[in-house]
Amino acid sequence: MHTNTMLASWAVLVLMITCAGREAEARAFFVFGDSLVDSGNNDYLITTARADSYPYGIDYPTRRPTGRFSNGLNIPDLISESMGSEPTLPYLSPQLTGENLLVGANFASAGIGILNDTGIQFLNIIRMYKQLEYFEQYQTRVSALIGSDQTQSLVNDALVLITVGGNDFVNNYYLVPYSARSRQYSLPDYVVYLISEYRKILNRLYELGARQVLVTGTGPLGCVPAELALRSRNGECSVELQRAASLFNPQLVQMINSLNSDIGSNVFIAANAFDMHMDFVSDPQAYGFVTSKIACCGQGPYNGIGLCTVISNLCPNRDLYAFWDPFHPSEKANRIIVQQILTGTNKYMHPMNLSTMLALDRSRT
Ligand SMILES: *[C@@H]1O[C@H](CO)[C@@H](O)[C@H](O)[C@H]1NC(C)=O
Ligand SMILES: *[C@@H]1O[C@H](CO)[C@@H](O)[C@H](O)[C@H]1NC(C)=O
Repeated sequence: MHTNTMLASWAVLVLMITCAGREAEARAFFVFGDSLVDSGNNDYLITTARADSYPYGIDYPTRRPTGRFSNGLNIPDLISESMGSEPTLPYLSPQLTGENLLVGANFASAGIGILNDTGIQFLNIIRMYKQLEYFEQYQTRVSALIGSDQTQSLVNDALVLITVGGNDFVNNYYLVPYSARSRQYSLPDYVVYLISEYRKILNRLYELGARQVLVTGTGPLGCVPAELALRSRNGECSVELQRAASLFNPQLVQMINSLNSDIGSNVFIAANAFDMHMDFVSDPQAYGFVTSKIACCGQGPYNGIGLCTVISNLCPNRDLYAFWDPFHPSEKANRIIVQQILTGTNKYMHPMNLSTMLALDRSRT
């Protein structure tokens, strides 16, 4: 009898764990934005913004390039990993059919920005309005599989990540001296305009059924190896680009507060990517990096000039570098960022961290 009780409670426990596992698997994940979160869409496009050749992917499980702008895993991969899910496939991948659709989809495209005119030099990229159109198209395709009610719940229960905005500075306003946008707007006015356009994008995501949306601000744009090489004399971060980020990020948080209060619920949470990066940019050794100024892969000062290609300098141990290429963090740095997204304090996550958001949703009936 004692044994039976034990067996019974053991069975209940196994059942609970199994259900928790099923639930975790059942949560879909949708990703929107730029190269920081593109998992390979640009491989299917005629564009110069691509990460489809060696040494990209050198530390990926397959050791092959996948279109991710990382030596290994990127931020969406690490979020999927923490939820116990498979990585979401790029929306343009031919493998994204049938059951795979239920895992979610990644619509992100390297080079894009909030504005349509950002990244024009990359030719054919999936701009934000198009990513949103694809999200609608995705829902039509899934409805054909599981019906529209189930599709609606799948989307409402899903986690959504959006990372966009950095390119509106780097690949637009500051792309060339006297750029069209910089002649049209002062920097503070440009930021106000970007935020108003970003608000429309987030509203559209809400209209399309997104209910748990993680929005990341920009990192320290002036401190990436590319900007150190281009604009810095002594290795200090570019003042102009840091100013852009420090205007943009607080207004993004304000806009998210205002959206949440209009909706009457914390649909959007903001990740302070700036502070998350600054921690290891200011004190790389504390995070196990030998440098946060020199990219692992690249050439010229700080390995910050041009692209990371087969003929670039390449560091032997990617875990010792905060930056993989002139613009993008290494997998190791991405892990530090995702840890803060999941469990960070209010300094990093507003109004709550991701594990709190996911737990709140779990307890909703
Ligand atoms: C971007 O282009 C699309 C399609 O032409 C258009 O519908 C949308 O309003 C444009 N967005 C902005 C911010 O101009
Ligand atoms: C963030 O997440 C952890 C749980 O992982 C929680 O203990 C902590 O209180 C949260 N912090 C904030 C500020 O929400």
